[in-house]
Amino acid sequence: MFLVHLRSALGFISGVGVGDANDIICLEGERQALLEFKKGFIDDNGMLSSWGSEDENKNCCNWKGVNCRQTSHVLELHLGAYQNNRVQRLQGMITPSLLALTHLTLLDLSGNNFNQSHIPEFIGSLINLKYLDLSYADFGGPIPLQLGNLLHLQNLNLEGNNLTIIENLKWLSRLSLIKDLDLSFTNLSVANDWLEVVSGLPHLTTLTLWYCNLPPMSLSSLPPFNYSKSFTSLESLYLGGNQFDTIPKSFGNICTFRELDLSSNNLNGQLFELINNLSAGCARDSLEVLDLSWNQITGSLHNLAIFPSLKEINLHHNNINGTVPKTIRNLFNLEVLSFSSNFLHGVISEVHFSNLSKLRYLHLSNNSFTFEFSFNWVPPFQLEAIFLGSCMLGPRFPNWIQTQRNISNLDISYAKISDTIPMWFVDLAPTLRVIDFCSNHIDGWLPDLSTKCLYLEKINLSANLLEGPLPLLPTNLSILNLSENRFSGSISSICKINGGLLKHLDLSNNLLSGQLPNCFMHWPSLVILNLAGNNFYGEVPSSLGLLSQLKTLSLSNNSFSGNLPLSLKNCSLLTFINFENNRFFGKVPTWIGEDLPQLIILILRSNKFYGSIPLNLCWLKYLRILDLSINDISGSIPQCIDNFTAMAQKGNSSTDIISSDYSYSSGENFIIGEAYVDSARIVWKGREDMYSKSLGLVKIINLSSNKLTGKLPSQILSLLQLVGLDVSKNNLIGEIPQMIGRLKNLETLNLSSNQFSGEIPSSMSELTFLNHLDLSDNHLSGKIPSSTQLQSLDASCFAGNPGLCGPPLSQKCWSGEQTPNQSEASEEYGDEFWKWFYATTGFGFVVGFLGVCGSLLLKDSW
Ligand SMILES: *[C@@H]1O[C@H](CO)[C@@H](O)[C@H](O)[C@H]1NC(C)=O
Ligand SMILES: *[C@@H]1O[C@H](CO)[C@@H](O)[C@H](O)[C@H]1NC(C)=O
Ligand SMILES: *[C@@H]1O[C@H](CO)[C@@H](O)[C@H](O)[C@H]1NC(C)=O
Ligand SMILES: *[C@@H]1O[C@H](CO)[C@@H](O)[C@H](O)[C@H]1NC(C)=O
Ligand SMILES: *[C@@H]1O[C@H](CO)[C@@H](O)[C@H](O)[C@H]1NC(C)=O
Ligand SMILES: *[C@@H]1O[C@H](CO)[C@@H](O)[C@H](O)[C@H]1NC(C)=O
Ligand SMILES: *[C@@H]1O[C@H](CO)[C@@H](O)[C@H](O)[C@H]1NC(C)=O
Ligand SMILES: *[C@@H]1O[C@H](CO)[C@@H](O)[C@H](O)[C@H]1NC(C)=O
Ligand SMILES: *[C@@H]1O[C@H](CO)[C@@H](O)[C@H](O)[C@H]1NC(C)=O
Ligand SMILES: *[C@@H]1O[C@H](CO)[C@@H](O)[C@H](O)[C@H]1NC(C)=O
Ligand SMILES: *[C@@H]1O[C@H](CO)[C@@H](O)[C@H](O)[C@H]1NC(C)=O
Repeated sequence: MFLVHLRSALGFISGVGVGDANDIICLEGERQALLEFKKGFIDDNGMLSSWGSEDENKNCCNWKGVNCRQTSHVLELHLGAYQNNRVQRLQGMITPSLLALTHLTLLDLSGNNFNQSHIPEFIGSLINLKYLDLSYADFGGPIPLQLGNLLHLQNLNLEGNNLTIIENLKWLSRLSLIKDLDLSFTNLSVANDWLEVVSGLPHLTTLTLWYCNLPPMSLSSLPPFNYSKSFTSLESLYLGGNQFDTIPKSFGNICTFRELDLSSNNLNGQLFELINNLSAGCARDSLEVLDLSWNQITGSLHNLAIFPSLKEINLHHNNINGTVPKTIRNLFNLEVLSFSSNFLHGVISEVHFSNLSKLRYLHLSNNSFTFEFSFNWVPPFQLEAIFLGSCMLGPRFPNWIQTQRNISNLDISYAKISDTIPMWFVDLAPTLRVIDFCSNHIDGWLPDLSTKCLYLEKINLSANLLEGPLPLLPTNLSILNLSENRFSGSISSICKINGGLLKHLDLSNNLLSGQLPNCFMHWPSLVILNLAGNNFYGEVPSSLGLLSQLKTLSLSNNSFSGNLPLSLKNCSLLTFINFENNRFFGKVPTWIGEDLPQLIILILRSNKFYGSIPLNLCWLKYLRILDLSINDISGSIPQCIDNFTAMAQKGNSSTDIISSDYSYSSGENFIIGEAYVDSARIVWKGREDMYSKSLGLVKIINLSSNKLTGKLPSQILSLLQLVGLDVSKNNLIGEIPQMIGRLKNLETLNLSSNQFSGEIPSSMSELTFLNHLDLSDNHLSGKIPSSTQLQSLDASCFAGNPGLCGPPLSQKCWSGEQTPNQSEASEEYGDEFWKWFYATTGFGFVVGFLGVCGSLLLKDSW
């Protein structure tokens, strides 16, 4: 009754209608403060649209994100950007009007965009705050010392900003009520007192300092704390991504300890030493989660079972060797077991799991395990994630998997399975989201997965022996990789994947055939399309141009014909195009240069393109591989090729050409990143081969086997990072550019079968990486320049140039002062002369003739 009374009184004072008696009416001063606070933001998403002065919006306790908790004061502001699975980011700044909210206990501004501004010092005056969350809000600069005035604070989260600290963390030591502290991604490298400070916070339960640049020895270089005296309530310590190299023994004395995360540090000792330190005291009985993944821990697994409460053990990505002891079964609380990516080996059998009935996640991939289970084994657990890649599971398809009724991730790649996919598989799991069976010898037909596996997001069956027609597939697939199998027939069934989520489609290297179905409109999210190495024919449907997100398009090694559809120019994000070995026809389209500015790799090799190279191809400044070889392209090589700046500049060459990233969560704690690496067949180092990871390293121009005329433009000399240049089998004339030696990175240079004339430039001897040079069948003349590189090449590299002499050719040059200046000689009549000359005369005669007529010959170009 008192409250109702008070409320109507306040309503009267503030002039707000009382309305319904259940309403709590906010104070006018606080309402004005909030309106002022709102003015600090650009609210593009209308997150604050209920914050208004209209009659129906007057009561600010009802505004979105505002909570008065049955009082008339604003107590809580829930303005985090991530709520209810939606992102609504505010952008702007925090205005001091906030200070009028004197009773504020909770302020959540996480995920908003404060544009690298500093956290305002006045936040330290909101002295009633118990909960402050400014995580991932694009704050920059130092953490204000005034936060040390928030004596009631229990929960402080500043994770994921770009913050630093001023000298030390002394201010933090005043927050004696704090329970949950997260300063992740704050550079704490200068905070020598961090451990002293946090261990003095009596109520601290959870401390999260991921990626804080905490230095290697800081834990152990401090005076030998008795952590159990200091940390009296610490339960969770997340220190991943720092540089710790030890686990201090006294951690083992923290009796409340439940979770320890030291992943991605520099732990490099023996596992048993680390475990001895942790298990020396009472923490042995309390520890539930131990994450030491992504370190360089060595040794074996033998004493893990010492922690009876252990629920989760993550040791993946270390250097642990030996076998898995059977005592692991004693960890009967275990839910997560991850030993992936170590050097473990040996037999894994039923005994290991006999008492692990709570296991949900099993990660043993990338070791050398052999699984030996009786065919009818029924495991005691129900797994949600099974990661057994590279474990020897075969030759039969593991039968026990059919007992697992709740799997969402199933990775049995590289598992030496030579079997068909069993009948029970489709009934297995309406819960399945990811299956990866790649690189086995699985044969037979792929069952229809469309009706039962409704939640499948990713299927990777690459590199097996699957055959028959493509079955119907789940509507909402995001990734489908069926490459390197023997699937045959038409692919029209994939049009059923029409949920609009498809991002990767890789059907390359099968026996698929027919025309492409016109259903690209179902795949607005498609990033990767690889149909290479099949028997597809006919024209490419113009609906391909609807794939506005497409980055990789590979149609190579099919029988596609016709013109490239003009609509392709709408795929303006394309970085990778490979149309090699088809029957595409028409002029090299000008829109490639105009509308596909992101192109890095363009391969039109072995088609029927004609006409000249369009000048606007030179606009492709990111281009690293240009392969127009084996076509009917005529005209000259454009001088503007010096505009291929990516071939001129060093750039970030070590990055792979990764076309797309995709990540999905494979259970609570595992986010799996996924990257598609483009691959293409290129000629490099003298042979044609598939390159994928190193594709980003090479910068290559291949124009061979066309009808190009004119000279090799000297602008080529500015493409300093070229490793391969092939213009062989054209009709190019003139001299090799004198300064060709500037292209210091060249490994392959093929100028053969043209009509290049003149001498081989002496600068060529500077090409120290050159291992494949072919100058054969031209009209070159004179002495081959001396360098260990050139002389070590096979004579055939120079063959068919009658005027050339000197090692490695057997023709000796006219020695002495009077070396014939044949570049002059050959320019007009020379070529024909030397051809005739060598053809009709013996070697001895040549020498004799030159000996006699040398001086005459030299002066005049005949
Ligand atoms: C972000 O800050 C920069 C400089 O600090 C400023 O130039 C820019 O306009 C700000 N952006 C917005 C959206 O406020
Ligand atoms: C982080 O802050 C530093 C200065 O402290 C600034 O140079 C840098 O650009 C900021 N980083 C980002 C991503 O804003
Ligand atoms: C962290 O701060 C220290 C000292 O200010 C600085 O030397 C170091 O480069 C910073 N580290 C990073 C990753 O920003
Ligand atoms: C640390 O303190 C605990 C409890 O106060 C005590 O049992 C233990 O012996 C102490 N350890 C050392 C190394 O002083
Ligand atoms: C074990 O603890 C001792 C004492 O804190 C420390 O010196 C040693 O480096 C620790 N061992 C490992 C492997 O972390
Ligand atoms: C584990 O590796 C260490 C050193 O690399 C080696 O000495 C030891 O024999 C290995 N143990 C086993 C069981 O392979
Ligand atoms: C497999 O494990 C080794 C050893 O930890 C690691 O170097 C390698 O990166 C792992 N491979 C994958 C694909 O994770
Ligand atoms: C299995 O675990 C139970 C507790 O859940 C325990 O009582 C039993 O002794 C264990 N059996 C074996 C064989 O370890
Ligand atoms: C099945 O897995 C989901 C998570 O994928 C989990 O929430 C649920 O509890 C599991 N159900 C059973 C019966 O294990
Ligand atoms: C599928 O498996 C192949 C073969 O191991 C691998 O190269 C590829 O990256 C995988 N693709 C996806 C999307 O997982
Ligand atoms: C060089 O490329 C840019 C676009 O990257 C283009 O605007 C310019 O016209 C090109 N120059 C020549 C000579 O083609």
